[in-house]
This record gives sequence, C-alpha cells and structure tokens, in this order.
Amino acid sequence: MTCPNDSEPELHQDLAVAQHGIRCGVSLQELNTFGFSARAEYFAIAQSDQHLIDILNLARRRNWSVFVLGGGSNLLLTRNISGLVLCLGDKQISYNTQPDGRVHVTAGAGTNWHELVMDTLDRGYGGLENLSLIPGTVGAAPVQNIGAYGVELVDRLVSLRAWHVTRREFITLQRDECDFAYRDSRLKREPGDWIVVSVTLAIGGDTPLITHYASLAERLSNMSNRTTTSMDARTVSDAVIALRQERLPDPAKIGNAGSFFHNPIVSAAHFSSLAAEHHGIVSYPMPDGRVKLAAGWLIDRLGYRGVRRGAVGVHQDQALVLVHTGGGTGSDMLGLVEEIRAAVHAAYEVELTVEPLVV
Ligand code: EPU
Repeated sequence: MTCPNDSEPELHQDLAVAQHGIRCGVSLQELNTFGFSARAEYFAIAQSDQHLIDILNLARRRNWSVFVLGGGSNLLLTRNISGLVLCLGDKQISYNTQPDGRVHVTAGAGTNWHELVMDTLDRGYGGLENLSLIPGTVGAAPVQNIGAYGVELVDRLVSLRAWHVTRREFITLQRDECDFAYRDSRLKREPGDWIVVSVTLAIGGDTPLITHYASLAERLSNMSNRTTTSMDARTVSDAVIALRQERLPDPAKIGNAGSFFHNPIVSAAHFSSLAAEHHGIVSYPMPDGRVKLAAGWLIDRLGYRGVRRGAVGVHQDQALVLVHTGGGTGSDMLGLVEEIRAAVHAAYEVELTVEPLVV
C-alpha cells in the first residue's frame, strides 16, 4: 500500500486530509482483537457530528470507500483495507429519568461497551449486567444485537441515532425499526448504509434480573455469599464476569473474536435424527418449533477443542472460540475455519455460519 501523501503533491488536497485528522497507512494490528496485521489506506476518528460529516464529504470527493470500525472484536482481517477506516470518538454517557421510573441511558458510539455496563451499575441501575465484559464498542453493539446469558441488546434498546450514508442525514431508529434477530439486525443486513453515532437503552426501575441461563443460574447458586437480599444486578454482573473469564480467552492476552460461529438452528426432524445418533447433543428449543444447537458442542465432539494449525487454533476450553497466538494471518484462520465447517457438515449435515465480519 502506498501513502498518497507521498505521491500526490496537490497541497490543498493534502491539507484537507490533515485538517480532518486523517492519517495514512495506519496499522490495524492493535485495533482488531485477533491481532492480525493489516493497514488502513486512510484512518480517521470522527469526534463530533460535524467532524463525521466533513470526513465523509471528503471521502466522497476522493471516491474512498468507507469502512466503519468499532472495537475490532468481531472482525477477521485478511488483507489491507483500501479507502478510509473510520472510528467514532464520542464516548459521552448521559442519563435521563423517565416518568415510569426507568432511566434512559444514551452513550456515544465510541464508548467501550463494558465501561458503559460498569457505569450504569455504579449508578445503581440494573439491566445490562448479563452483557458484562462483552468486548467492543457501543456503536457496534446493535449491529450484531450482542447477547449473552439470556439477554440481548434488543431487550434493552429504546432507539439509536445513525448517519444514513446515501440519504446523508442523521436518522433516529426506534427499536422496532431495527429488525433485530439472533446476532442480526437491519443495520447488519444493509451494510454500508448506517453509521451508528449513539444508542439509547432503558435500564433501572423495575427491569427484572434474568438468571435462568443454565450456567449463570448454577454459578449464582454456588456463590458462597449469596443471600436473597444480595441478589442484585451487581451480583449477576460479577457472576457473568467470572463465567466469561473462565470460558473465554482475554483478547489482551490471546488473539480471539469471542464466539466464531453462530449456534445453528435446525428443523425438529433434523434434530430428532441428530439426537438419535449423537448422545447428549446440547440443544435449545425455539418458539417456532425449530431447535438451536450449541456449535461449541458440535465442534468439541469432533475433537477440535485445543487443536493448533501453526499460529491459529481452537481455544482449549471453548471450541466456539478460535485463537491467534501471534505471527499468523487472517488467511491461515480462514483455512482452519473451512476445515471445521467441512468436518461439521460431514458429521451433522449442519452449515456453520461465521459470526465475525471477514474482510
Ligand atoms: N460446549 C461444549 N464444548 C465446548 C463449548 C461449549 O460442550 O467447547 C457446550 C457447553 O457445555 C454448553 C453448550 O455447549 O452445554 C453451550 O455453551 P455455552 O453456554 O458456553 O454458550 P455458547 O453457546 O458457547 C453463547 C454465545 C456467547 C455467550 C454465551 C452465554 C453464541 C454464538 N455464543 O455461547 O456469545 O457469551 O452463549 O450466553 O450465541 C459471543 O457472541 O462472542 C459470545 C461469547
């Protein structure tokens, strides 16, 4: 990748780039939790609505494609990115008490998700505790409708504010307009159209504690200091954090992107034949009669947990998580991904879909 600042001597154009804080040839290695090395041709952090508009106007004039990057925790980079990589810098958090006793918290897209969860709990507002320790930014959270331990973002979202790239205006989408599904949303299905700038969530008040998820319920019942009165949002958050720290590798220590595959959903008939053949298969019935399978279980039973293929592999404690131990490439990872997908298909006739965005 060449740096156009070196090869494009038109001073006014270079000045425009510099004025907007746009940098050239920036390494993305620290900006994706797998830690794969790749470069952005141009890179900018939009600090305000106007700054965002100015950067996008410049990108349009220069014909740069625009790739919006959140925390890089759901991304598999296999190459350099041409055009502009854009981050959102707004990290403001504001609280608004509602007539029904709940609180609406609005957070800028650049806010670290877990820091938002901690801030809400520090102020005594429950509601986001099950989503503790999920890596990534607030802006990325609605795109894939993050979820864990029985709660998804859709359960708490009120609205989000986003820049619509082709209509070139800020639009507020109410929850029902976002078309959320399991790890999916309208934002994800209309790639390139939306840049989320802030998210508003309903928390506090009578938001119920959600503790039915099996591993969470078990952890809570084992917590030695648990009494009925101490069973609050903070306790649930502590349990979720402990569970995640046990099961999921810390991206600061070993490159990973959390769950790599979606949990696949099969028909009732397909499930019956699988259950007859595979004793102990882990499954969750869906309201529509279909059955969700635990992809980690399927992969684990094929002996893949802990395998290594050079610098990439399957985490030793959780077969749903793929890891990069350093010095490998996104293409190495794609090789392992295809190997696992083929093995799962051969054994169960199930197509695994990949959760992170592959670029
Ligand atoms: N299992 C195995 N072997 C493994 C991994 C899992 O047998 O190597 C079994 C477990 O024993 C359990 C079942 O599979 O019976 C499901 O495992 P777990 O409860 O750990 O949850 P998961 O299905 O692996 C999902 C989400 C996670 C979320 C947890 C908790 C997906 C793709 N993943 O994982 O989300 O934290 O539930 O709610 O839906 C993420 O998206 O990055 C993520 C971590």
